[in-house]
Amino acid sequence: MDNRPAGADGWLQGDTHRKFDTMAAHLRGMDMAMVEIGHRYAELYWAGQDGNWAYAAYQVDKIRTSLELALVRRPKRSASAEPFVTGLIPMMQQAVSAQDAQQFAGAFETMTVGCNTCHAAEDLAHIRIAPPVQRTVITHGP
Ligand code: HEC
Repeated sequence: MDNRPAGADGWLQGDTHRKFDTMAAHLRGMDMAMVEIGHRYAELYWAGQDGNWAYAAYQVDKIRTSLELALVRRPKRSASAEPFVTGLIPMMQQAVSAQDAQQFAGAFETMTVGCNTCHAAEDLAHIRIAPPVQRTVITHGP
């Protein structure tokens, strides 16, 4: 058992197990991943509007990573997320790599339904996702 404090100024205290528990609490479960995914969802939207396909591909990839890691931390949410992970993300990746604005628009609409379907399945129907109407982002179009 290692009781040495860790981290800057020894903010992590207690035995090894307690330190891991503290780290796990700071890492968070799904909520901060969703804040991140919400941001990336909006960025993806504007990337598509701009025809900035490299940036769109980057955002889809980060959404996938963030969601997959969140599901490792919260496996009980996996069943609800399954269609999103196995169906909608590949669909969006395909639309982005086709660099086709119309295909992207359709994929974005379907993906949005997928966000809300998972929220509803997790008793979170009040978290209703819709495409952004105003740019609040720092990236710019071509
Ligand atoms: C597991 C299926 C699942 C999928 C797929 C999913 N979400 Fe979520 N989302 C959740 C859960 C669960 C929460 C609530 C997290 C909590 O309470 O800890 C949430 C919460 C949110 C929140 C509120 C975050 C906050 O705390 O302010 C936003 C925004 C959000 N999701 C956006 C999205 C977007 C955008 C998509 C699609 C690109 C999406 N979600 C797809 C499960 C999902």
